[in-house]
Amino acid sequence: MTMRNQLEDLKARALEEVQKAPSAANLEEIRVQFLGKKGLLTQLLRGLKDVPEAQRPELGNMANALKEAFNAAWVERVHDLEHQELQQRLALEWIDVTLPGRRPHEGGLHPLSRALAEIIEIFLQMGFPSMSGPEVETDWHNFGALNIPADHPAREMHDTFYLSPGSDGGQRVLRTHTSPVQIRAMESHKPPLRIIAPGKVYRCDSDLTHTPMFHQVEGFMVDRDCHFGQLLGLLETFLRRFFERRLPVRFRPSFFPFTEPSTEVDMGCLFCEGSGCRVCKGTGWIEVLGAGLIHPNVLGNVGIDKEIFSGFAFGIGVERLAMLKYGIGDLRTLYENDVRFLSQHTKGKEV
Ligand code: DAH
Repeated sequence: MTMRNQLEDLKARALEEVQKAPSAANLEEIRVQFLGKKGLLTQLLRGLKDVPEAQRPELGNMANALKEAFNAAWVERVHDLEHQELQQRLALEWIDVTLPGRRPHEGGLHPLSRALAEIIEIFLQMGFPSMSGPEVETDWHNFGALNIPADHPAREMHDTFYLSPGSDGGQRVLRTHTSPVQIRAMESHKPPLRIIAPGKVYRCDSDLTHTPMFHQVEGFMVDRDCHFGQLLGLLETFLRRFFERRLPVRFRPSFFPFTEPSTEVDMGCLFCEGSGCRVCKGTGWIEVLGAGLIHPNVLGNVGIDKEIFSGFAFGIGVERLAMLKYGIGDLRTLYENDVRFLSQHTKGKEV
């Protein structure tokens, strides 16, 4: 075969290979194979020296034309491959932008936090700012100052977690109620006073209806003429606002060491409106909180002149109110943190 034929043959093969190349990497191999330093063209051109000189320019031109044609085909093939790859990716990575997005899980306030926030807001509107106190309390603030001396039978009802004594050697407890904040408030502020004290309290008790930690809101007012009528009006207003309906409220005589007289406060049953149901055990009334006029001994313990001032106090169990308001049947679900329960009770609510 003449060199001319060989060059034509090589050109045809090279172009065909370029056109068939399946990938960019493969194209690179083809370039090396045909046009590389030790490639087929170089090898072929080595034979030029044996060709009559007159034919060499034409063969040289043919070799150049081969390179040009190769390069043009090569570039075109690169573009083709890029285009193909783009089409494949477009087909694979296609997304339907008209599909509605997937909503992220929405958080919300825990029902207890919501109840607390609502209680705090209602009292604030009635002129009761909130104050906090320590959860690790002295025996004096939790009991003694509240007219519950050592050996008083009322201590037994509190199932207290006792802690090792503080640095001053005094007995310390996890507070069993928020009432000690009353004492702290009266120690640090002069009457007239109106305060609520929301917070966690602890009792060594755990069953279907008790958890070792729960929440209370203590509230009290000390002024020159505090009386039961104000207390009734305040609690009635609070309960009506909290439950968002006109509920009847009644006082039942009771006993607490730190109030005298003391009362338990009932509201008309939310579920049967008085006719009697399972929730109110057929009575038409639900017990919701304890209250009373602050015992003169308590005022005396914080140096408030009982001849000039009187006060009332009340203690609200937050879990109970939240369960009634949001229709939660089992206390423990409040603490299990099951997201299915939580999302049921937070859906659509402001965070
Ligand atoms: N401290 C009481 C308790 O935990 C609740 C309570 C009852 C508070 C009557 C009061 C009150 O201020 O007057 O059981």
